[in-house]
Amino acid sequence: MSEQTVQIRTSGKVLQSPCGPIVHGLEDVLIKNTTISDIDGEKGILWYRGYRIEDLAKFSNYEEVSFLVLYGRLPTRSELKEYERRLKSSRDLHPATVEVIRALAKAHPMFALEAAVAAEGAYDEDNQKLIEALRVGRYKAEEKELAYRIAEKLIAKLPTMVAYHYRFSKGLELVRPRDDLSHAANFLYMMFGKEPDPLAAKGIDLYLILHADHEVPASTFTAHVVASTLSDLYSSVAAAIAALKGPLHGGANEMAVRNYLEIGDPSKAKELVEAATKPGGPKLMGVGHRVYKAYDPRARIFKEFSRDYVAKFGDPKNLFAVASAIEHEVLNNPYFQQRKLYPNVDFWSGIAFYYMGVPYEYFTPIFAVSRVVGWVAHILEYWENNRIFRPRACYAGPHDLQYIPIDQR
Ligand code: ACO
Repeated sequence: MSEQTVQIRTSGKVLQSPCGPIVHGLEDVLIKNTTISDIDGEKGILWYRGYRIEDLAKFSNYEEVSFLVLYGRLPTRSELKEYERRLKSSRDLHPATVEVIRALAKAHPMFALEAAVAAEGAYDEDNQKLIEALRVGRYKAEEKELAYRIAEKLIAKLPTMVAYHYRFSKGLELVRPRDDLSHAANFLYMMFGKEPDPLAAKGIDLYLILHADHEVPASTFTAHVVASTLSDLYSSVAAAIAALKGPLHGGANEMAVRNYLEIGDPSKAKELVEAATKPGGPKLMGVGHRVYKAYDPRARIFKEFSRDYVAKFGDPKNLFAVASAIEHEVLNNPYFQQRKLYPNVDFWSGIAFYYMGVPYEYFTPIFAVSRVVGWVAHILEYWENNRIFRPRACYAGPHDLQYIPIDQR
C-alpha cells in the first residue's frame, strides 16, 4: 500500500480514502424507492406494504402475507383461494432437483438449498422463456406475467426442497406435499411425515409471516445485484440464499441456539455476554442490527410465542431460560446499552423449532422459505426500472510497476 492510502476508521461507518469518504458496508445508502416494506429503526416498527407486522402476525397467515408482499395489496377471498391453489399445484420439484438434493444429503442444508434452487431454474420452461426475452431486452406484460408465475413457483417449492433435504439426510422416504394442508402445516408434514401439532404449525406460520420481508438486508441486496444484470429469478434467489447463510445475517438463528445449548444453564449467561464486550471477543449471536436501534419488533412477537410454546411443551434443555437470562444481561449491560444493541429476530426464533424436532441446521433454510417472497418482490419492483449495479472501488495500490522476470525476483 502506498503512503497516501492510509484509511482511517472515523465513526464505524465511514472510511477515508484518497478518493473521498467510503460508506463502509453501504450503511444508510439508498438503492431505490420501494413500497414493499418499511422499518423505523429508532422506534422498532416494521410495516409490510403499509401494514404493521403486529397486525399481520395476529390476524393473517403466510399465504395472505406472501400475496400482500408480492402483489402489494391484501387479496379478496377468491383471490386468496386461487393463489393458494396455484401454490399447492407448484409444490413438486423437477426430478433433477430431487437428485441434486439427494447428492447433497450430508451437506449443510443451506448448500443444498442454493444448489436446488439453481437446478430447478435450469429446468423450468417458464424461466427459460423469460431468460430468452430478457436477453433481447423484452420485459412487457407477457414477460411480467411469467415473472410473477415464477415468483409463485419459488414460494411454493422452497419448503419442499428443505423438507426433502431433511428426509434424505435421515435416510427416510420422501413425503409428498399434501394439498389439504396450509403452507406451514404442509412443510412440517413433509419433514416429519405426520400432521403437526396445531401450535407447531402456528409457530412456523408466525415465523414465516415475520420473516417475509425486511427492506434491503445483505441477501435482498444480493438478489438485486444479480437480477440487475438480467440474470434470472432462480439464480438471483440462489445468490440471496448464499448471502443469507452467513452468521452475521440469517445464519445467526442457528448460532444463537447452539450458544444456548452449549451454555445449558442460565447462571452462565453473564459470562457469555461479558465475553462479547471484550475487544476481539465473539459477537453475541441474535443481538444487534444495522437498522434497529430499539428492540426488534419481530423478536418481541416471537419471544411471546416461544414462551407459550415452552409453557405447553416444557423447556427440558433450558433454552428459553438461558435466552431469557442472556437477554436480561444484554439489556442491563452498559456496552450493549451505549451501542443500542438489542435482541434481534434471530435471538428467539430457534427455541420453538428446536423443541419441534427441527435440527438447528434447518433454521436458516426456514428463514429462506419465508424470505423468498421478499427477494422476488424486490426483484420484480427493481425490474420496473432496472439499472445494473456497478459501484466503484478506490484503487489504493501502486501503478506502473516494472515487470521483473521470475528468475530475477
Ligand atoms: N455482540 C457484541 N458486540 C456487537 C454485536 C454483538 N452481537 N453487534 C454489534 N456489536 C458492536 C460492534 O462490535 C461495534 O462495536 P464498536 O463500535 O466498539 O466497534 C458496534 O456494536 C457496532 O456494530 P457493527 O458491527 O458496526 O454493526 P453493523 O451494523 O455493521 O452489524 C450486525 C450489524 C451484523 C447485525 C451485528 O450487530 C452482529 O454481528 N450481530 C450478531 C449477528 C446477528 O445476530 N445477525 C443477525 C442480524 S438480523 C438478520 O440478519 C436477520
